[in-house]
Amino acid sequence: MKNILSPSILSADFNILGQQIREVDEAGAEYIHIDVMDGIFVPSISYGMPVIKSIRKTTQKVFDVHIMITDPIRYIEEFAKVGADIITFHLEATDDAMAVIDKIHGCGIKAGISIKPGTAVEELLPYLDKVDMILVMTVEPGFGGQSFIPESIGRVKKVRQMLQERGLTTDIEVDGGIYTENVSNVLDAGANVIVSGSGVFKGNVSENVKKFINILQNR
Ligand code: DX5
Ligand code: ZN
Repeated sequence: MKNILSPSILSADFNILGQQIREVDEAGAEYIHIDVMDGIFVPSISYGMPVIKSIRKTTQKVFDVHIMITDPIRYIEEFAKVGADIITFHLEATDDAMAVIDKIHGCGIKAGISIKPGTAVEELLPYLDKVDMILVMTVEPGFGGQSFIPESIGRVKKVRQMLQERGLTTDIEVDGGIYTENVSNVLDAGANVIVSGSGVFKGNVSENVKKFINILQNR
């Protein structure tokens, strides 16, 4: 499995969003993490399809769209249409996760499933061989800039173990409170797709990306 950096544009300066996306692209980030929040599944509202459609013109990189939306099946086709390459939805947000996975795959793109910090990792069991990525949230979804929850390390290890026992090499993404200072811990636990918002967009953006990539590639 390849280690991949997915900068979360939730922490970008929206006044110069296109410029900031080009900066992370040119510095070598492979994914762009796009957090969509509906004000119901999580308290905040972020941005949606028109923004994704617009920034699709600035980069060819993989659009890693994390939807924090109740009843996500309603919007899958639209997200695919505006340029999502991967859609990750929350297990807690739907009664029929299998149908959401099928819907995403039916659009010809990759499907990810995510769990909040309070959801037992065993709840992922029915979906392990159905998805392309598992997102283990390392903070409560809803806001950037929160502190990494230390118990997440054991949860990532457990998910990697569950996958290995089934002969699967599925990507494990982690999201929330990750910086160059603590990224090694989640890599060691078995995560390989690293989301970082504040860790990339606060300070010197391209330097931050290069520091992350240096750590990710030298493992
Ligand atoms: C939180 C979002 C994250 C957020 C991460 O609900 O899913 O992607 O942007 O931000 P940081 O890296 O600042 O914790
Ligand atoms: Zn996210």
